[in-house]
Amino acid sequence: MEPSDAETVFVAGASGATGRAVLRLLGPRVPTVRALTRSPGKRPSLRRAGADEVVVDDLLDPSDLAGALDGVDAVVSTVGSGLADIRRSGPYVDGAGTEALVDAAVTAGVEAFVMESALGVGDEPASPLAAAFDLFIGPIQRAKTQAEAALRSAPVRHTILRPGVLTNGPRTDDVTVARPGAKLYGTVSRADVARLLVAAPVTDAAADETFELVERPAFPDRAVAVDWQLPAGRGDDGIDIDVHDGESEN
Ligand SMILES: NC(=O)c1ccc[n+]([C@@H]2O[C@H](COP(=O)([O-])OP(=O)(O)OC[C@H]3O[C@@H](n4cnc5c(N)ncnc54)[C@H](OP(=O)(O)O)[C@@H]3O)[C@@H](O)[C@H]2O)c1
Repeated sequence: MEPSDAETVFVAGASGATGRAVLRLLGPRVPTVRALTRSPGKRPSLRRAGADEVVVDDLLDPSDLAGALDGVDAVVSTVGSGLADIRRSGPYVDGAGTEALVDAAVTAGVEAFVMESALGVGDEPASPLAAAFDLFIGPIQRAKTQAEAALRSAPVRHTILRPGVLTNGPRTDDVTVARPGAKLYGTVSRADVARLLVAAPVTDAAADETFELVERPAFPDRAVAVDWQLPAGRGDDGIDIDVHDGESEN
């Protein structure tokens, strides 16, 4: 997809900490940003954060995902479960919920789907930090593994990003990206993750790829060089216009 082709972008998890950073980046760049939340009360704050439209639905009990995705060019999903979901033994939006969104995206003819996953998801060798995630959030990691597999086998261009521990630090544009099995470990700001989530649909080297990512400087020998582009559907040339969005969230 060319930077100017991302005209309508759907953000699942838009009210979350990464999701709001995604909205702030997309707002000035894309004609229509459509945000998903389960809570009608979040409409005003999502609009202030950069959403042009807000859809209220629950990925684990959807009422109209087809309508929600009508006319959408790209989906960015930052949905995630909390510890309360583990105490209830699921279900997990990271698994079944994301799969429902992938299915609906394929049916709607969406061109690109980007998923925020996590280090340690999947079967590749993982760093000790990533393996430790399993001790605390194993069911969520397994749900993400299942959703990643569903996305990889779906007939839609995809990018899966597996960040390390998320922080609310500033955007640095200085992130190490590596292929699965690189055993990266460390932190990365949600603002930096948001930039790559937004860039992935219009970045050639991100098509049908899964990347681990952490803040630089880290593991330069394991890094993959990617020329990240940003959408430019509002008419700029796709060059980063320095929309920093590192203010604290949560
Ligand atoms: N925390 C970490 O260190 C870490 C590390 C690596 C990866 N990750 C992953 O990164 C992602 C983003 O994390 P975050 O902390 O930025 O997000 P977050 O603030 O926890 O936000 C999660 C979002 O998921 C949405 N959501 C939850 N259940 C939903 C459902 N059933 N239907 C629709 N939406 C639903 C919520 O929206 P509403 O409440 O508005 O419906 C919320 O906006 C998650 O997938 C997380 O697992 C986290």
